[in-house]
Amino acid sequence: MSDQRVAVITGASRGIGRAVALRLAKEGRHVVLSARSQGPLDELKGEIEAAGGAATVKAVDISDRAALAAMIESVASELGRLDVLVNNAGITRDNLILRMSDEEWDDVISTNLTSVFVACRAAARPMMKGKFGRICNIASTSGLVGNAGQANYAAAKSALTGFTKTIARELGGKNITANVIAPGFIQTDMTKDLPAAVTDHVKALMAVRNLGEPEDIAAAVAYVTSDDARFVTGQTLAVDGGMTMC
Ligand code: NAI
Repeated sequence: MSDQRVAVITGASRGIGRAVALRLAKEGRHVVLSARSQGPLDELKGEIEAAGGAATVKAVDISDRAALAAMIESVASELGRLDVLVNNAGITRDNLILRMSDEEWDDVISTNLTSVFVACRAAARPMMKGKFGRICNIASTSGLVGNAGQANYAAAKSALTGFTKTIARELGGKNITANVIAPGFIQTDMTKDLPAAVTDHVKALMAVRNLGEPEDIAAAVAYVTSDDARFVTGQTLAVDGGMTMC
């Protein structure tokens, strides 16, 4: 078994997940890059390896429970260990409550919440076996303070806090920590189509008066998944330029 820690990152093909993968690889982790489509993951793997890092690609649709669990199990069996899990992949299907369809609700709950349960359940055993684990679930400030048009998304992201605190309590005695990072507005594909009026409004709500970059989230993930953060667990850290301060 290699002594290099193995970190699985879902939604690694772009945006925040991509930045997290690059950061963890730079810090010496063997990163397992996961998302739906293989092409961008292969490209990222090439970039990481060219910089001297180690990466493996595992394409999977996280809304497929069996496929997601099998992916996590295959990492532990093929690489011999699983140390870090970053549940980052997520979607939005925004609509006001009066118009929100069952499908919009179910898609977001399945992708943003149920997948985190499935991945953590599958990862817990190899982490216990390795006597080390760092779980980081990516939520959102929408889950902390709500956001009109995002009842499904805010419900899923908010639920991650209670879920993460609970597994932190269950697994803490095994040297496994679990924390939530709640990004504010970060410049990625998810936010690129917002009208200028919305981004201007959001900037005005922020203490730092600017949107964040994926690397701002990656830095926080790097800390809570580091060996140094062994005494930090069950926390939700908003990385939002001082938008919520809660
Ligand atoms: P993005 O839309 O740029 O990237 C999302 C990633 O998740 C992509 O790699 C995509 O392939 C993957 N993904 C989506 N559905 C998937 C599925 N069913 N199976 C496998 N992979 C899937 O999003 P972004 O902005 O990088 O967001 C990453 C995380 O951060 C999400 O959980 C999002 O909710 C959260 N977040 C983002 C904020 C922002 O301002 N960009 C703010 C707050 C939270």
